[in-house]
Amino acid sequence: MNLESIVKAVNDGMIPPAIYSDEEIFRLERERIFGRSWMYLAHESEIPEPGDYVVRRIVEDSFIVVRDEHGEVRVLANVCLHRGMQVCRAELGNASHFRCPYHAWTYKNTGELVGLPFHEDAFGGDANLSRKEMALMPAPRLAIHRGLIFASLDENAPPLEEHMGGFDYFLDFYVNQSEAGVEVRGPQRWIVDANWKIGAENFSGDSYHTPHTHASVVEIGLFREPKANKRKEGALYFAGGGGGTSYKLPERDFAANLAYVGYPPEMIERMRARWTTAQRALISDGPFMVSAATLVPNLSLVHNWPVVNAEGQVVPFISIRLWQPISATRTEVISWFAVDKLAPAWFKELSYKSYLMCFGSSGMFEQDDVENFTSLTAVAKGQFAQRILLNGRMGLARDGSFLHEPIADWPGPGRAFTGYGEYNQREVLRRWGEWMLDTGGSGSNGSAR
Ligand code: FES
Ligand SMILES: [Fe+2]
Repeated sequence: MNLESIVKAVNDGMIPPAIYSDEEIFRLERERIFGRSWMYLAHESEIPEPGDYVVRRIVEDSFIVVRDEHGEVRVLANVCLHRGMQVCRAELGNASHFRCPYHAWTYKNTGELVGLPFHEDAFGGDANLSRKEMALMPAPRLAIHRGLIFASLDENAPPLEEHMGGFDYFLDFYVNQSEAGVEVRGPQRWIVDANWKIGAENFSGDSYHTPHTHASVVEIGLFREPKANKRKEGALYFAGGGGGTSYKLPERDFAANLAYVGYPPEMIERMRARWTTAQRALISDGPFMVSAATLVPNLSLVHNWPVVNAEGQVVPFISIRLWQPISATRTEVISWFAVDKLAPAWFKELSYKSYLMCFGSSGMFEQDDVENFTSLTAVAKGQFAQRILLNGRMGLARDGSFLHEPIADWPGPGRAFTGYGEYNQREVLRRWGEWMLDTGGSGSNGSAR
């Protein structure tokens, strides 16, 4: 199949398995998606002090995400300008300078080259090779939203706000619960033999898998809800660059519903003050509570509220995760625990426990999910399997119309449905198709322009 027919099939909700296994398709994704879109790298709370840094990557490209000596966040290519050695070999730390391990060219944490051994003898001094003109290459674009640090390799990428669109309304429920924002712990990292899109799609809208794949966590009483059939009452929403799942809440009162998922009164009051009337309406009028979500292409979020002790106490947690591709069939999962900075100490502790029980490298949900993700990827390599078009048309009638009407009085931006349906996964893949067919000609945001 050529790319046009693959995208056409995907837009009809019929998915060629090769999009989850083909290296040629991945090569194009690398250039047309990861080379252009806004890529999440780190959270500001990971680098609170001048000199703090973490090393992250966009596919193969390694970057130092550093708070420089003036307090400014920078994203610098981890590539020595001399012969291309990685100048920073540690995963995180604090440094005023980065010295290349190969021949010791030394860069300030602003990126500026300040040390060049035998400068006079080897390069004829500043007259011949000026240190001032040399600096670690910055990512073409950098944007910080609510402490989330994003970069784009495309200097013509549309502004992050435009890319995010109405999704920022939903993002606030995870990372903007008070004026202080969140702090993160981790990340935990592990590698799965799965295509990166599978997790991104699943988190965006697969409430259909919960009753079956995660039946055991319901059986052991980890949740007050869902009962296996509860998920279909939640809303599946998509707005701007992202979409997600939610649960239907029992009451039509803002504070009562936040207390129901385990937030203490002081946090609820901060949320009330922090969120707009329209945002509060999701919880009081919907009433819905956000759960898993994805901002395209590969950033996901989780919010859930398991029972954490024998007394039946429910404590919510938030997690941020990146589906960082390695190849068509391998993905590094990078998973952070996030909690409001102003949350009381007991809450932070129990919320962390609640995250670790569910997600992270040993989380029960994680273990349930990953076997599906790896198996689907392995199957998608088969030459015979590739004759099939996978059916991703849940929620659509034969003629392409919706089986359920969108929610009429949806309080948030974008579009939302209740009932089972693959509305969001189709939307994630529709955007994938747009990027993939955008060859970078005029009118696009392609880097080839
Ligand atoms: S490669 Fe870095 S100093 Fe030579
Ligand atoms: Fe799952």
